Amino acid sequence: MSIKQLEFDLFPEEEKELVAVMHNVTNVASVPQRSPFRYPGGKTWLVPTARKWFSLANADSYLVEPFAGGGIISLTAAAEGYFKHVTMVELDDDVAATWQTILSDDNQWLIKQISTFDVTAENINYVINHASDGIKQRAFATIVRNRTNHGGILARGSGLIKSGENGKGLSSRWYPATLIKRISEVNRNRDRISFIHGDAFAYMEQKLFDPNAFFFIDPPYTIAGRRLYNHFDVDHRRIFELASKMQGHFLMTYDDTLEVRSWADEFNLSYITIPMQTTHLVTKEELLISNDF
Ligand SMILES: C[S@@+](CC[C@H](N)C(=O)[O-])C[C@H]1O[C@@H](n2cnc3c(N)ncnc32)[C@H](O)[C@@H]1O
Repeated sequence: MSIKQLEFDLFPEEEKELVAVMHNVTNVASVPQRSPFRYPGGKTWLVPTARKWFSLANADSYLVEPFAGGGIISLTAAAEGYFKHVTMVELDDDVAATWQTILSDDNQWLIKQISTFDVTAENINYVINHASDGIKQRAFATIVRNRTNHGGILARGSGLIKSGENGKGLSSRWYPATLIKRISEVNRNRDRISFIHGDAFAYMEQKLFDPNAFFFIDPPYTIAGRRLYNHFDVDHRRIFELASKMQGHFLMTYDDTLEVRSWADEFNLSYITIPMQTTHLVTKEELLISNDF
């Protein structure tokens, strides 16, 4: 598979109308897109599988997504009412500011900025330069960067969309009405969603022995993560070790490499491969690791 194709696969974003194939053919266009982010490594294609896993939940179960990113799995669970509560944890300051603002009363301010924003290079620069004014300004700058950076990448050093993309230039991924709809929906469900700006490991350790916890664990890719996220350097072996001790349920997703398989084997964790196929008809395998197989 070429690097270019692999990059395409890493961005299962709504606008590309990706078709994912998992066991049976699942059309991602049929999955409700609830995240305001276009997130590199986003797991929209896993939603049908995640729903089956959610159905193991009982009235006391709660979902934890320790590496939340764009949070599509948490947002789906909250909107569709599978758990009494959903907790998202994320370390990145920009992503955290965005979730905090969306889940607060400042979401109205954010919506107003989005609805009136005119996408020009000058305005983008202005918003980015004011990101340090406060949490909500940081959230708006993050959304603008997410929608105008190549591939939605928020990592330091990532660049703007090339002027030719979609023939629409910088505004080619700017859909204000869609963004506002998704932000409003998340805010409406805020009683059921907690966001923690913090470290995944600390939170997993805290809930390790709780049989009611359902952990959906989607850490940065072991190989591509460096280019995609500010926080990419995680102790993957430790995640497997923690998972092996969890008293609740867990579902982890990983790139299918020998190293990842060796950690699963070391801690006696069961895994399956799950194929996904893009509209470009390129198939790649990811690993699903769980104590529910
Ligand atoms: C593969 S992405 C998650 C994508 C997400 N599942 C989605 O569908 O959008 C991994 C995320 O983990 C975050 N991360 C990395 N290290 C972390 C840590 N120690 N604690 C919390 N989040 C962390 C990264 O910033 C990144 O957003």
